This record gives sequence, C-alpha cells and structure tokens, in this order.
Amino acid sequence: MGTVTLINNETGEKFDFDLIDCTRGPKAVNFSKLFETTNIFSYDPGYGSTAGCESTISYVDGKNGKLLYRGMPIEEVVSKYKFTDVAKLLITGEAPKNEKESIEFDLELRHRSFLHEGLINIFSAFPDKAHPMANLSSAVAALSTFHFDSKDDINDYQVMARRIIAKITTLVAFSYRNSVGAPFIYPDISRGYVENFLYMLRAYPGGRLKYTINGEEEITALEIEALDKLFILHADHGQNASTTTVRNVASTGVHPYAAISAGINALWGPAHGGANEKVLDQLREIGDVNNVDKFIQRAKDKNYPFRLMGFGHRVYKNYDPRAKAIKALKDELDKKGIKMDSRLSEIAEKLEEVALNDDYFKERNLYPNVDFYSGIILTALKIPVELFTPIFVIGRMPGWCAQAIEHITNPYARITRPRQVYLGE
Ligand code: CMC
Repeated sequence: MGTVTLINNETGEKFDFDLIDCTRGPKAVNFSKLFETTNIFSYDPGYGSTAGCESTISYVDGKNGKLLYRGMPIEEVVSKYKFTDVAKLLITGEAPKNEKESIEFDLELRHRSFLHEGLINIFSAFPDKAHPMANLSSAVAALSTFHFDSKDDINDYQVMARRIIAKITTLVAFSYRNSVGAPFIYPDISRGYVENFLYMLRAYPGGRLKYTINGEEEITALEIEALDKLFILHADHGQNASTTTVRNVASTGVHPYAAISAGINALWGPAHGGANEKVLDQLREIGDVNNVDKFIQRAKDKNYPFRLMGFGHRVYKNYDPRAKAIKALKDELDKKGIKMDSRLSEIAEKLEEVALNDDYFKERNLYPNVDFYSGIILTALKIPVELFTPIFVIGRMPGWCAQAIEHITNPYARITRPRQVYLGE
C-alpha cells in the first residue's frame, strides 16, 4: 500500500490518501474521505476514473482484452461449463462440483420457471407494438408484488436470485408471444434451461414444434449449445451501466427485483445492450459490402450523429474477448450446420477489416465489442431482432443477481449519493 499526495495550489495545503492494491490491475486511490478532509470533491462524469464498490465477481482487463469470471478466464469458462453452472458460479462463488450438483441446480431452475397466473395477466395490458424490453422491465418489477420474501439473510437472496434466473426465460418468451398475438407456451420441465426457452418461443399450442415434410422440427443440440455459449459470454462484466444501476437502486434497500427491473431499463439503451439490435439494423441498412467504406466515413464524421454500432468500449482498448469468442462461434456453427446469413456476415467482416485498418478507429482504440457479431448468430437461430436485447437480459441475469447480493450483504456499502458541480443561479 502507498499513498498519493494531493496539493491544493491555491492554499498550499497537502493531503495524503491511501492507495488500494487491487488483486489485479492498477491501484486505486481511496478518496472516500476526500470531501471530509479537504472540503473538495472530485468531478468525473460517466465515472471513467471512479470505482463505486469493491467486487470479487468479474474482472475486465481492458488493456489486454481479458475477462475473468470469479478469477477464471472467459475462454475456460465457456469451454468447461454450461450456462446454469456459470449462473451458480456467479451467484454463490462456486461452480457445481460434480454432475449431480449441476443437475440439481438445473432442476431447481426448471421447477422455478413457472409464473404466477396473476402475473401472466400483465402482458394483456401491453400493446402489441410495445418493445419486449419495456414489457420485461415492467413484468420483473411486477414480480416483486408476487414474491416478497423476508430479506433477513443471504439464503433469502439466493432464493430470489434462483427464482428470477429461472423465470426470466419464461418472461421473455411470454412477452414476445404476447407482442405477436400468439398464445403462451408454458415451460416444459423435461427440457433444460436453454432448450426450454427455445421451446417456449417456438412451440405451437399443444406443445408440438413445427411440422415439416421430414416430421417435427426438433430443437437441436447444436442450437442449444450455441445459445448457451452466448448466454455465458454475456453473464457478467464488471461495473457496466446496467450493473451499476442495479447496485445503485439496491443500495436504497428496495426489493431486489425492483433493482433488477431498473437494470433492464438501463441495458435497453443503444449505447449499452440495445446495441445488438442496432448492429443488425445497421448491417441491413449497409446492405452490400461495397457500401462499407461510405458508412465508415459516416461513422468518422463528427457532423453526423452516426456511430458504428457494436464498436468501441469504455474499458476495452483492445479486442473484446467476448467478440473474439462470438466471431469464432459464428464460424464454427456455420461449419457445423447452423447456416449464417452470408451477406450479413460478409458485411460485418468487411466493416471490421476496414475499421481496424483505419487511423480514426486505431487512434481511438475502437474494436468490435460483444454486440457486433452476436446478432448474426441469433438471426441464424431464428430469434427475432427485437428479442436480441432481451436475450442479453437472460445472459446478464446471474451477473446482476450476484452483484446485487454482493452489494446488499456488504455491511460497509452505503446508499449511492454522488455530488454535483453546481453551475446554476
Ligand atoms: N463509432 C464511431 N466513433 C466512435 C465509436 C463508434 N462506435 N465509439 C466511440 N467513438 C469515438 C467517439 O466519437 C470519441 O471520439 P472523439 O475522441 O473524437 O470525440 C471517441 O471514440 C471516444 O468515445 P466515447 O464516446 O468518449 O467513449 P465512451 O467510453 O464514452 O463510450 C461506447 C463507449 C460503447 C458507448 C461507444 O464506443 C459507443 O457508442 N459505441 C457504439 C455503441 C455500442 O456498440 N455499444 C455497446 C457497448 S459494449 C456492450 C454493452 O455495454 O452492452
């Protein structure tokens, strides 16, 4: 541990502040008593240089393009575990130790996936054209009216986390089916987490999947594996905008589902999780590889309110490891039989190639992020574009739950209450 000295050049006063040794990455200066001791506060819009909490859940190494879940590199997590194991790893700190524990957790989620019948009525109040993210955040807030467990100890939070991780796939599927006027398909507990989600999206009344000339169109193991991996790659990511929102709202002592609902709203924005939907819109708008240069020029033009969606990141100043994994997954799935839209894929790869060799993008360290290639895979999985951000919600749910639990159970955590630089009358 060292110190940093702050010198007020107006008064000549000197103040020492402790440095915190993080287990990874740069040191942090402890400014928690800055105002108390100096009568000066810090100004950091967007919090690019500010940590609001201590955490042990995930670590983003932006300089080297690395991501760890509970200390384990994301590449290892994806190759070793399925999504429900990762959910357990994030919310409890320990992955299932063996097959039995893995199955038990999976079964618990299956049995918790049903919604209270009263909650289902909420969907009929929404207009057909509503974005599923709006339906979803409202339904998750409404979940707090059905489940108001005591909040006495960590076990209560664990139950709340497992319940919402289980129900979120049902909520996404129901909200989508409502938007297209299709009857709801209830969870089938004989199916695993990811398969059940695809089943609730795709099945016809009576629970049968589409009939083709070759018989009933089954959900394939490859489709399940693809979506499972995408969920894992979205499961947690340090103190991003939605996670920070969840922590901030949870810091007031509110019901955890109200905090998660706020996180869903934060994720919806196109600068955050809403980017995956916008990337696909943009690829379709570009329409042809020959138009790529024109759109790259537009993205660089400051007079034009156009950004290359799926590019850039506050923390990564190198290739986002999730984008790397998703790009590899896209190519692998294509080879194994889940055919990607070759035109969209070609445009995306050309965009990446041109951007990575362009001075504007190089000088600003702008690389593809998690949202750049995910939509191409989701399209190949027949997921409608308006469900892309809700898919991100499903993936991020264990992370939000883990972060909320970490925050609520930290006896030193305080209500979030920043200051402002007042410039008014
Ligand atoms: N296209 C063109 N220029 C960009 C882009 C982009 N996608 N991203 C950043 N820049 C430029 C920006 O104009 C600025 O240039 P200058 O220094 O000349 O003013 C510089 O790069 C730094 O950008 P910033 O806005 O200060 O960076 P930020 O850390 O505040 O924003 C970001 C990060 C992700 C919001 C931004 O890169 C962006 O809007 N990207 C497009 C949307 C997107 O893909 N979002 C998903 C983010 S990753 C997943 C997630 O969080 O959900």
